Amino acid sequence: GTPATVSPTGVATGAPPISKAQQGDFLTTSTGTRLRDTDHSLKAGPRGPVLLQDHHFREKMTHFDHERIPERVVHARGTGAHGYFIGYGTAADVTRAAFLAKDVRTEVFVRFSTVLGSRGSADTVRDTRGFATKFYTEEGNFDLVGNNIPVFFIQDAIKFPDVIHAGKPHPDREIPQAQSAHDTFWDFVSLHTEAQHHTMWNMSDRGIPRSYRMMEGFGVHTFRLVNAAGDTALVKFHWKPKLGVHSLTWEEAQLIAGVDPDYHRRDLYDAIEAGAFPEWELGLQVFPDTADETFAGVDLLDPTKMVPEELAPVQPVGRMVLDRTPTNFFAEVEQSAFHLGHLPPGIDVTNDPLLQGRLFSYVDTQITRLAGPNFNQIPVNRPHAPVNDMLRDGFHQQAVHGGVAPYRPNSLDGGNPFTAGADQAAFADLPVTVTEAPKVRASPASFADHYSQVRLFWLSMTPVEREHIINAYTFELSRCYHQEIRERQLQCLANIDPVLCAEVAAGLGLPTPEATEPVADVAPSPALSQVGQAWPPD
Ligand code: HEM
Repeated sequence: GTPATVSPTGVATGAPPISKAQQGDFLTTSTGTRLRDTDHSLKAGPRGPVLLQDHHFREKMTHFDHERIPERVVHARGTGAHGYFIGYGTAADVTRAAFLAKDVRTEVFVRFSTVLGSRGSADTVRDTRGFATKFYTEEGNFDLVGNNIPVFFIQDAIKFPDVIHAGKPHPDREIPQAQSAHDTFWDFVSLHTEAQHHTMWNMSDRGIPRSYRMMEGFGVHTFRLVNAAGDTALVKFHWKPKLGVHSLTWEEAQLIAGVDPDYHRRDLYDAIEAGAFPEWELGLQVFPDTADETFAGVDLLDPTKMVPEELAPVQPVGRMVLDRTPTNFFAEVEQSAFHLGHLPPGIDVTNDPLLQGRLFSYVDTQITRLAGPNFNQIPVNRPHAPVNDMLRDGFHQQAVHGGVAPYRPNSLDGGNPFTAGADQAAFADLPVTVTEAPKVRASPASFADHYSQVRLFWLSMTPVEREHIINAYTFELSRCYHQEIRERQLQCLANIDPVLCAEVAAGLGLPTPEATEPVADVAPSPALSQVGQAWPPD
């Protein structure tokens, strides 16, 4: 029998149909009636008032009045491009995901973004950059929703509203619109000291990328993969730009923000239009799936920690090329909706408490931003795999579902037998053991180390990169009005490195505080410096 949920219109069943917008030689109403005149409203005489009965005027104006949708609550400023991904087949040992098999080609859409600024803010501000990729795989969409920095500000999603409120403009004057240089930001990161690691990446050259084409991307969290034999591994995802990692200088970033606030989106568009297609290699750091979920002393569930590449090399598993600019920015960039729960068979989540919260947040916000639960029917979000779900109705429903029995099993829609768990090609949640433990609002003890990796990052920098970091802390903290916040942040720097702290304190004209805990004994990781780094490594 016919599957119950195939739409006769073809919508939501596979490849997007050709848009019906703007066809034919004549201007029409939205319902296809040809129009004679769209430049004059219908009036009671040429000098008379406009008539309420002017339905063409009302349709045109009403639609315009409702053109805007809310910007994203974070990552509002962004741009995007289409392209493709080709698997190398090298990931077969760790995952059964079909799109990573050798020579499999998968269409992708990528959206790059800043985090804090509004939709119209400048591109070159000091901020983290979003790097979100939607793979339209034959097994369903896989969204890798990453950033250009491998660690995050907080360890538990419940603090996300707090860190964003601290980073967004002050509520009383909406200043600053896009940058991290203000009191609430520094107040938060000096009180919630797990944020110190991400903050130093922001103060480094990584906070002001030269181009989206020259950024690394990181999945940040540890994911759990499973191969065809059922063996599991823990991994971190990395994007390595073929052009290498490059940044602007602070002076360049400031000037460009004034002269060409669209610098990064222009750069991406111009490069693709010129045929200089940006390219990245996707790589995995692979860790054994041990009971303690720890590798080389790093708790893999702590999203404020990374694993130095010297200890776990990034292993290439495929490459991505962006070769097509959007046709319509609104339809593709603004209406795209990413979600960490879009996982193909072979890729699963871990208990990272930040990841767990994100699994809730994205769909929740998209129900408001895209007005209802049917945004996966929007062309840019539609999977290229067949869809046969039991979701029905709701705002902006585009599909005309057939059948009468949207439940399984049923005996009305062609039988359609369904045995839970029998489909070997389906996504299967990994049966990870949850240890018996009391319900608590608490973090693991290992999450209490807030400084050792910040020091590791600092020690890994070259002299010129350190100078940039010192200058960035000094400038940004000098924009704080509250002396006690500057002093508290200096206290954090003292726990990271005495030289860094003394330099910034001198720049601010403040005394250098003593460390409150011994500075960590860590080895630098040369792979963290972007000076002289190329990919693939020699
Ligand atoms: C966008 C929540 C952490 C990367 C968003 C959006 C929300 C959100 C609500 C807007 C989505 C939309 O309107 O479509 C959260 C929460 C987090 C968190 C609750 C932590 C608890 C992270 C982390 C990363 C990240 C750790 C990077 C690994 C992104 C990116 C976007 C985004 C790239 C923009 C996606 C796009 O281009 O449409 N996040 N986020 N977020 N987030 Fe997060």
